Amino acid sequence: LHVVVLMGGWSSEREVSLMSGKGVADALRQQGWSRVSELDMGRDVAERLNELKPDVVFNALHGHPGEDGTVQGMLELMGVPYTHSGVTTSAIAIDKELTKLLLVPAGVRMPRGTMVRSETLYERDPLPRPYVLKPVNEGSSVGVAIVTADSNYGSPIGRDVSGPWQEFYELLAEPFIAGHELTVAVLGDEALCVTELKPKVGFYDFDSKYTDGLTEHICPARIPDEIAQSMLDMALTAHRALGCRGASRSDFRWDDAQGEAGVYLLEVNTQPGMTPLSLVPEQARQRGISYGELVEQLIAEALR
Ligand code: DAL
Ligand code: MG
Repeated sequence: LHVVVLMGGWSSEREVSLMSGKGVADALRQQGWSRVSELDMGRDVAERLNELKPDVVFNALHGHPGEDGTVQGMLELMGVPYTHSGVTTSAIAIDKELTKLLLVPAGVRMPRGTMVRSETLYERDPLPRPYVLKPVNEGSSVGVAIVTADSNYGSPIGRDVSGPWQEFYELLAEPFIAGHELTVAVLGDEALCVTELKPKVGFYDFDSKYTDGLTEHICPARIPDEIAQSMLDMALTAHRALGCRGASRSDFRWDDAQGEAGVYLLEVNTQPGMTPLSLVPEQARQRGISYGELVEQLIAEALR
């Protein structure tokens, strides 16, 4: 079986994807797979795939394009099986606001946000402070800012709230949920575990996510059983309602002052990271599934 690991591309998460892809390709070789090709996606991706003639593509792309249904659509047209979610699921889940339209009616608690155009942020706050501003369709916390009472009023582009705003015209503003940052992986049709992320400084931003030692991962999280169960249930409901395939990862905030009513799902990642510090491999390991077995399971699911 010839596996092409598709990675890189030109999204804002290119470097993360290269790490994921490298990890996946190395693991497959270690598992004894002899035909593994690594493909850093360029505009000629269709031609390159036509030359390589894979039996299956491991999609290790993050962000857009790659996590948004576009690459999935190309692979569908080419008749090449691929890992993770399909076209429609990917296109919906990459958009944090669209995701709510599907998940809130399904009974998943999510923060009530509002869409804002970045230019209007100079004029007024879209929500009472503190609130979170995030590009509606990015990953790895790229462009995310928490706007607090003392953030530079009327000028989120200023030094107090930094973010490459110009690039992200469509922003989502959501009330900031105090308390804990947690995540749940769903593999196949099972929610694996709850991990709490405790960044040493600030919030769980890009640097805290990918710099070894900057964030403590507590897996399983030391939280009350009913809170953990609520997150496991919501992650599985979300995975099913969106029609995810293979693996997904749902990110949560929990305001412990509110008990179970303080559990909020923030978003569902359909192409969760596979880097050495990533959370799906960590939860799989906690459940006795090695990184290599995880990769093989995702490929088996793609070929089913
Ligand atoms: N967006 C990154 C890769 C993640 O969800 O893990
Ligand atoms: Mg994400």
